[in-house]
Amino acid sequence: MPEKEVEKTIDALLQERRTFEPPKEFTEQANASDPAIYEEAERDPEGWWESQAERLDWFERWDTVLEQDPPWHKWFVGGKLNASYNCLDRHLESHGDRVAYHWVGEPGETRDVSYRELHEEVSRLANALKDLGVAKGDRVAIYMPMIPELPAAMLACARIGAPHSVVFGGFSAESLRDRINDAECKVLITADGGYRKGNVVPLKDNADEALESTESIEKVVVVQRTDEDVNMVEGRDVVYSEIVQAASADCPAEPMDAEDILYILYTSGTTGKPKGIVHTTGGYLTGVASTHHYIFDIKPESDVYWCAADIGWVTGHSYIVYGPLVNGCTSILYEGAPDHPDKDRWWSIIEDHRATILYTAPTAIRSCMKWGVDYPQKHDLSSLRVLGSVGEPINPEAWIWYQEFIGGGKTPVVDTWWQTETGQIVISALPGLTTLKPGSATKPFPGSFADVVDESGEPVGPGGGGYLVLKRPVPAMFRTIFNDADRYVETYFERFGNDVYFPGDGAKLDDDGYYWLLGRVDDVMNIAGHRISTYEVESALVDHPDVAEAAVVGRVDPKEGETIVAFCTVKSGVEGDDDLMQELRGHVAKVIGKLARPHSIIFTDDLPKTRSGKIMRRLLRDVATGQELGDVSTLQNAPILDAIKAKASSQAADDE
Ligand code: WTA
Repeated sequence: MPEKEVEKTIDALLQERRTFEPPKEFTEQANASDPAIYEEAERDPEGWWESQAERLDWFERWDTVLEQDPPWHKWFVGGKLNASYNCLDRHLESHGDRVAYHWVGEPGETRDVSYRELHEEVSRLANALKDLGVAKGDRVAIYMPMIPELPAAMLACARIGAPHSVVFGGFSAESLRDRINDAECKVLITADGGYRKGNVVPLKDNADEALESTESIEKVVVVQRTDEDVNMVEGRDVVYSEIVQAASADCPAEPMDAEDILYILYTSGTTGKPKGIVHTTGGYLTGVASTHHYIFDIKPESDVYWCAADIGWVTGHSYIVYGPLVNGCTSILYEGAPDHPDKDRWWSIIEDHRATILYTAPTAIRSCMKWGVDYPQKHDLSSLRVLGSVGEPINPEAWIWYQEFIGGGKTPVVDTWWQTETGQIVISALPGLTTLKPGSATKPFPGSFADVVDESGEPVGPGGGGYLVLKRPVPAMFRTIFNDADRYVETYFERFGNDVYFPGDGAKLDDDGYYWLLGRVDDVMNIAGHRISTYEVESALVDHPDVAEAAVVGRVDPKEGETIVAFCTVKSGVEGDDDLMQELRGHVAKVIGKLARPHSIIFTDDLPKTRSGKIMRRLLRDVATGQELGDVSTLQNAPILDAIKAKASSQAADDE
């Protein structure tokens, strides 16, 4: 379809059909087809979650569903189970030969891994990890590409009760080092490399650099993915395939307490040090299995489900690994980029595997919009029946485009709000029940209790805007920050009291009680669906010898998403020119990872500061977004703003 036509279609749809009723045929076959589910869960949330825990196999049943001592909460107290058992063993008898993952490597190879095969691989690896000295409670770091060995590694850890800490493969050596040190991991599982946009990501080289300053790592397991020549340290590094082949395939799953740690996953907070979000076993698995079942309307016998996130983020943990495997469904696992070798890679994968469900992020949808509808239209996408979105607010245009051109104008689009901390989706439509409004995550999932409140914690009511809060924990909710209980309380529970969780997001409620998420209200940016704090990027910039001071803000554009803008002052004798800008972007990539690179850097003689010397980011945000400047009366150096504004606009003109 020509571009003009696409625009016209979107405009017309936006005008005419602001709401979308669930198609009748969909409701008739839906996992959630009776609205009574909401009332039931509201009347007796614990009873509702208890019924959801029945989705799992327990070695011992719980005594108490929820034990609360706000802000501390425990779910399914006294229950015993194992995550790997729930993902694998219990499926073997009735559908062991079902495909767990259709894996697609970026260079083009494919591999189908059945539940039985995955079970065997996980059992062997679990035994091998034990042989390497990993015991229950020891932490294992995982730094891998999107290959089947990644979920296998996570499940092997879960099988023996060793919490895993997965670090996204796009993070730098330094980021990996900090995360390993914070969790004091004993073993690292990595790969020689992985493929991304036709290049090899040198994971093992990065790992070696990280391990120069880690004391806790004793052994390193290396998957041979690319067969590049990598450095293997005698006595420390072992080859994955060798230890797996040598190990026994018999490894009973360790009975774990419902509240034992399943994993730690780091996420950015407002300070430099990332937070180790702690998830436990029973509640987490209950929450992800239930939401995955209802929100994506999973029919394990027939669906081919694809969550196109990276397992290195929470979306991958909950909705590529644990949720889908607990539910026994077939997933697609794709290693690489959506535009390699061409911009129709995703659509060709969907066509090849007859994918029925696609779950991705608005940033990816917007890229596809920019590339144009010719790419999806070259492929038969008629197998799709549910589309999902996660990670940031989805603008209505992108929502409509997604439904129209990927979903053939018929599929429900579920916009799902949640966080690393909540572990499970909290606000989302149910595709067979909810009337959809493009751009709104709609309503809390059954058994979840949200609200929007003002500064003083008072509900704003329908039509109002303010801070999103959760008034009751959901089962998959994190339990604490690893080794930092004080920070857990301060960050999330100080603002509105111990029994009200504050996620850090702004939201609006409309007259029908629908939630419209407005983005973060703290100094955390959302870059392509990933959380990066302004402070982390600032620290990386001032770490460069030429930079004196740096202030970083997110520039939000509803159509483009959020991009990073940095304001830097340089040391005397240094020229703030294009070369330095490129060098600094490279430096941030080295310190944090490519995803944190500023989109633009504005060099300035000074930064706007209050009399007490605090940088006024708020004003810089106004400059970056080209808005009227807010209140400047507390500024000690007001004239500098004019100079910064002039620079910013000349740079914007250069960009065009
Ligand atoms: C944002 C990702 C609007 C939000 C699962 C949240 C969203 C942060 C949505 C968590 C959505 C996530 N609509 N905003 N549907 N989903 N967010 O921890 O600001 O990487 O606080 O978890 O992403 O990001 P995280």
